[in-house]
Amino acid sequence: MQTAESINQLYRDAWSKFATGVTVITTLEPSGSVHGMTASSVTSVSLDPPLMLVVIGEERQSHGLIETTGRFGMSILEVGQADIAKHFAIPPESRGSLESEHITTLSKSPVIKGSIASMDCSVIAGHKAGDHTVFIGEIEAIMVGDGAPLVWLERQFGRFSSQNLQQH
Ligand SMILES: Cc1cc2nc3c(=O)[nH]c(=O)nc-3n(C[C@H](O)[C@H](O)[C@H](O)COP(=O)(O)O)c2cc1C
Repeated sequence: MQTAESINQLYRDAWSKFATGVTVITTLEPSGSVHGMTASSVTSVSLDPPLMLVVIGEERQSHGLIETTGRFGMSILEVGQADIAKHFAIPPESRGSLESEHITTLSKSPVIKGSIASMDCSVIAGHKAGDHTVFIGEIEAIMVGDGAPLVWLERQFGRFSSQNLQQH
């Protein structure tokens, strides 16, 4: 039988095989400063009304900020934005400063400038699931840009271009 320890490692290894895009979830701190975290556990939920979800660990600073503000921005990163993904993936106290030129505003939320799509969301529900919370956001504004997506696979950032697409 698999032990809890081996399941824990296998869980991480299995999910590392699941290629995803990379997003940054942005919120505002009480001071008005922009706070961000890199997130791959996001998905679309409903078209009418337009809803999305993001799954955030209880330990993340973003968790409390999203609970407090009831809003978040979501930016889908472009392949050239791996440095931004890395910046927002380490603990906030270890991060250097990110140039304000990388941040813009979409309606009521901060988002990442140059991302290939971004959304401004109002939180309508938060469902606790284990050590994470599934936040459901109602999308109030959307920006769609150009460019190839940054991809996360096997604990590395990479690229996927339309040239990789295969006809089946
Ligand atoms: C590619 C990638 C995807 C990540 N996705 C998530 C995620 O979906 N949910 C989450 O809670 N943490 C995720 N993380 C970890 C957070 O980005 C990391 O813990 C961050 O430091 C949290 O920042 P905060 O404490 O300022 O909110 C991810 C990290 C990486 C590198």
